[in-house]
Formats: sequence, C-alpha cells, structure tokens
Amino acid sequence: MAHRAPWWLVEFFDRTLRGLLYDAERLLGPHVRPGDRVADIGCGTGFHSVALSRLVGAEGEVLLVDAQQAMLDRAVARCERDPRATARLTPVLGDVGALTIAGHLDFALLSWMLHEVRDVAGLWRWLAGALAPGGCGQPPGSALITEPWLHVSRGHFERKLAPGLELGLSRRHIDGVFFSHAVMLSAREGTSRAGTSEP
Ligand SMILES: C[S@@+](CC[C@H](N)C(=O)[O-])C[C@H]1O[C@@H](n2cnc3c(N)ncnc32)[C@H](O)[C@@H]1O
Repeated sequence: MAHRAPWWLVEFFDRTLRGLLYDAERLLGPHVRPGDRVADIGCGTGFHSVALSRLVGAEGEVLLVDAQQAMLDRAVARCERDPRATARLTPVLGDVGALTIAGHLDFALLSWMLHEVRDVAGLWRWLAGALAPGGCGQPPGSALITEPWLHVSRGHFERKLAPGLELGLSRRHIDGVFFSHAVMLSAREGTSRAGTSEP
C-alpha cells in the first residue's frame, strides 16, 4: 500500500507554518479565471482548495478530489467556512487514476501528491482526458504539478512525469513555487481525449 500523509499532519502544517510561508491565491491566480472549472487533486485538508474557490468565484466550480475521506471532509468544511470561497464544490472520494467525471477541466492542481500515487500511468491517462482541449479562442486546460524537493529528488520527479509527456501533454517549467519542483502540463489543442463520462 502506498504511503499516504495522515490528515492531522497536513492540517498541522496548514494551520501553523504554511500560511506564513506563501500565499496560495498569489500562486494560483495567474492560472485560474473567474468562472473556471478547476480541480484540487489530492486536496488534503484544503489549503489550496479555498484559494481556488475564491479565484473562480460563484460562477466557478471546484472539484475536491482525495483518496481519504478525512481529508475530503476537512477540505469541504474549510471552504464552507470561508466567506470569500463562493464556488460550487464537488467533493470526489477516490483514487484519481480511477475517476470518471463529467465534462472537462480548465485547470487542475496536483500539489505534493504525485509521490503518493502508485498508478502514475493511470493518473496521466485520466488527466490527459480531463483537461479541456482548447480551441475556438479558448486556451487548452492545464495542470500545475508540484512536488516537495525536500523529499522528492529531481530525478524521481522527472521519472514520474515521463509517462504524462509521452501522452502528448506539453510541459512548461514554473519557477518560484515554495520549496517545490513545479511544472505546468497542458493539453495540446485538440488532443484531449474524451476520457470523461457523464455520471
Ligand atoms: C501530502 S498530501 C498533500 C495535500 C495537499 N495537496 C497539499 O498540498 O496540502 C497528499 C494528498 O494526496 C492524497 N492522495 C494520494 N494519492 C492519491 C490518489 N491516488 N488519488 C487521490 N488522492 C490521493 C492523499 O490522501 C493526501 O491527502
């Protein structure tokens, strides 16, 4: 069984140091527009979910995805407590590689969760299908992937990304993400497959 961070550890970090170390809205703001449909994959206790909800606003939607119910419950409660987090919330419990969701995503965040995923090929297949293909003046959907460099080496990060790049996702390096390796993966216009289905 893959190691998964316990909720109390993630919550402790969120409640103590994290908010002092970086501003999640500032990090995500350049990548998200009001009204977007976005997902926080491996959302943990919701540190970034709140920021995403504030950014997409009441016309937007945030899918909160986690394999642990305790994480999901806390992330939802945290968004619901925040008066500025007005987006529609869709909590999804499960392994991201096995998800089916309706429609496409404009943006997905995978923050410090990739090293916990065993079925990496399944994850990238899902993501390639879920990101909006773009076209007709709309940019393709994109996903910000971050991993903590304190316990994930650059080589390990690259090996985990490789199957996603083989699927045709395009890659852009992102600088300055707190203590992290970071890349943006985007659907190439017209290449996103219909890997999603109506519930
Ligand atoms: C280290 S925590 C990071 C949480 C959050 N993204 C953050 O930055 O605070 C990793 C989270 O990913 C979730 N996770 C790990 N593997 C997963 C998978 N295959 N599908 C869905 N969630 C997963 C864990 O349950 C955990 O909540």
